[in-house]
Amino acid sequence: MGYRKILYRSIPLYEDYHPSDLGILRASMQFNKRVGVTGYLWRANGQFVQTLHGKVDAINRVLERIVADKRHSQIEILLDDDAPQTSPFRGFSMGYDHFFPARLGIDFIEENHLPRVNRAQAEIVFDALVRLASEALEKGGGFVYSRQAGESEADYERRLTAARS
Ligand SMILES: Cc1cc2nc3c(=O)[nH]c(=O)nc-3n(C[C@H](O)[C@H](O)[C@H](O)COP(=O)(O)O)c2cc1C
Repeated sequence: MGYRKILYRSIPLYEDYHPSDLGILRASMQFNKRVGVTGYLWRANGQFVQTLHGKVDAINRVLERIVADKRHSQIEILLDDDAPQTSPFRGFSMGYDHFFPARLGIDFIEENHLPRVNRAQAEIVFDALVRLASEALEKGGGFVYSRQAGESEADYERRLTAARS
């Protein structure tokens, strides 16, 4: 059975920094761990951008859950490729951060419409989220729901579970 990597963009129902993301994160971590999927969820400028890595059948199950979730809409797959078995997300069943797209040199927002993201740009974003996952382990993520420096996945999950949403 092959492995697959995905990058998609969607439009959140709620605004940036909304606590409903906590519920998404907790459910994602639990389910992804069960089926062996890893990835990173990035929120910026009124958009979700999420990466996923895992076995093809596991990715399909996760995508079904993602598509069914009413907390976002207009899901647009930007990358859907075969992938090596080793996850680039270093044990993150699901990471999370907010940062501004300017850091990627890509405009993710234009007046009144979502800019198209071409394949080369999608690859840049995917690689940026891989780097973010790696940095988060050493330096910590940039947001309160991000993993903090040196925090184990189990401690991270406990902290999110205890947080008020
Ligand atoms: C932006 C976004 C990302 C999501 N990512 C995942 C994911 O990585 N894994 C997953 O299983 N569900 C994911 N979901 C789906 C939901 O978190 C999950 O299906 C929902 O909380 C229902 O949980 P329940 O089964 O406890 O009702 C995502 C949903 C949204 C809106």
